[in-house]
Amino acid sequence: MALLLAAAVLLLMTIVLLFAIQWWKEKREHRRIVSLFPGPEASLLLGNLDKMTPTEKSLSFNESLLLRFPKLFRLWAGPLFGVIIATHHDVIKRVLLNSTPKSEEFYRLLRPWLGDGLLISKGKKWLRNRRLLTPGFHFEILRSYIDIYNEATNILLTKWKYLAKNEKAVDVFDSSCYLALDVVLRCACSYESNCQTQSESAYVRSIVSLNEIPVARVLFPPYRSDFIFYFTPMGWRARKAVRTAHQHSEAIIRNRKMQLISQNLENQRGKRSDFLDILLLAKDDEGRGLTDTEIRDEVDTFIFEGHDTTSSGLAFTLINLARFPDFQQKCYEEIKSVLSNRKNVTWDDLGKFTYLSMFIKESLRLYPPVPFIYRTVEEPFEVDGFSFSKGCEIVLAITLAHRNPHIWENPDKFDPLRFSAEAAKNRDPFAYLPFSGGARNCIGQNFALHEMKTALALTLSRFELLPDSSCELKRAPYLILKTENGGRVYLRDRGSRDS
Ligand code: HEM
Repeated sequence: MALLLAAAVLLLMTIVLLFAIQWWKEKREHRRIVSLFPGPEASLLLGNLDKMTPTEKSLSFNESLLLRFPKLFRLWAGPLFGVIIATHHDVIKRVLLNSTPKSEEFYRLLRPWLGDGLLISKGKKWLRNRRLLTPGFHFEILRSYIDIYNEATNILLTKWKYLAKNEKAVDVFDSSCYLALDVVLRCACSYESNCQTQSESAYVRSIVSLNEIPVARVLFPPYRSDFIFYFTPMGWRARKAVRTAHQHSEAIIRNRKMQLISQNLENQRGKRSDFLDILLLAKDDEGRGLTDTEIRDEVDTFIFEGHDTTSSGLAFTLINLARFPDFQQKCYEEIKSVLSNRKNVTWDDLGKFTYLSMFIKESLRLYPPVPFIYRTVEEPFEVDGFSFSKGCEIVLAITLAHRNPHIWENPDKFDPLRFSAEAAKNRDPFAYLPFSGGARNCIGQNFALHEMKTALALTLSRFELLPDSSCELKRAPYLILKTENGGRVYLRDRGSRDS
């Protein structure tokens, strides 16, 4: 018996040892491959971890490397794990056009909430669903959302009118977050959350915390392990928030299904009113629709992708308008001439905001809402003499590419005219990527730009924006770009000033 036990222990130890040797060999090979890429000095134990924090300081350090390393560099996250940071369109284009798959290590943190929705899914499933969902972003569908953008912005501006009267600074991140959430919930599933006036609902709270939790997990490495994370209080809260969000989406889907059956809307495909209708009625070539879980995953993906990104874009644009009064004045004059005395933006107006559009684009260049995206090499390839082998983790640093002095002249200067037709004509299409590029680009980019233009046009037509000089702008590149210290502007009511 004792002999048997000793043999079992020996066998177990041998297996563990073999695994450890295999693991070590893989890590050594990974280290050898990553070491072939150029990069800044790194400490033996921590690597460059201190330069990978979501702070202005880290971001500025990485920007300072652009002069030395024009197209890419490597950073070490500890002694054994290295990532390649791509900062130039020559490399980024190759990765995106190569259909390099998304990094599981990173995107899996969103999976408990978003399941296998469009953002995360891969291969055939992604292709089929992207085809099924694309009609939901057709101009005819987007046109019907303009009233929602107007209504939701007017709710915000009514709140702001009160704050302007009291000469209080407004927190643009908070306001933009609830505005964008309100819009996406109404457009995705015609759900009136009232989140702009009652941000206390359990559902809205769960959505807000589901945005924050993956960031906390990225920042605190032990939390990246599911095993550890789900035993912590935050892991428990995450489970609860996912349950609340799922139950909520499921209830909305169930109700809409019942409506579709009772109104026999299946026969009236022309009368689609929101994404949920599109999802429920979509059929592939073989006549198969989406399952209930697939529909829920897509609804949740739209809610996630559709609100935090747009809200970051909107908040930074508002801050930039306040920082650059001359450009703000130009935007205002254009808006005044397009709207005359109308209080609402129409679909036809959207194409007439030429200067405002350039301003938004410049704001998204310097402050891209999605600062980094992550890929893992499956099929090895070469760019510029660098070999990317299977398993290589690449960070496509949109934020660094947008400030790369080898691409942009005077990159830190805010200049909307970079996006005049003349100036943009010879630029590589992959040099400017706030919505990514290639087959996996953002499906909602027109939706987002229409929403932003409407919100900004209505805001500027009623208020002049003034900077809050007590609040220095310090970027914080989380999953979505935020600031380290919030972001505020002062408002001057144009109506009260004119009267
Ligand atoms: C200013 C606002 C927005 C920005 C900057 C933005 C940016 C991006 C970026 C960079 C990606 C690529 C992500 C990756 O490769 O990991 C992406 C993907 C995606 N976005 Fe957006 N987005 C915005 C608004 C929206 C909106 C409003 C929606 C939906 C209503 C949306 C839905 C999606 C979806 C579903 C994907 C995944 C597409 C796929 O992989 O096929 N986004 N977005």
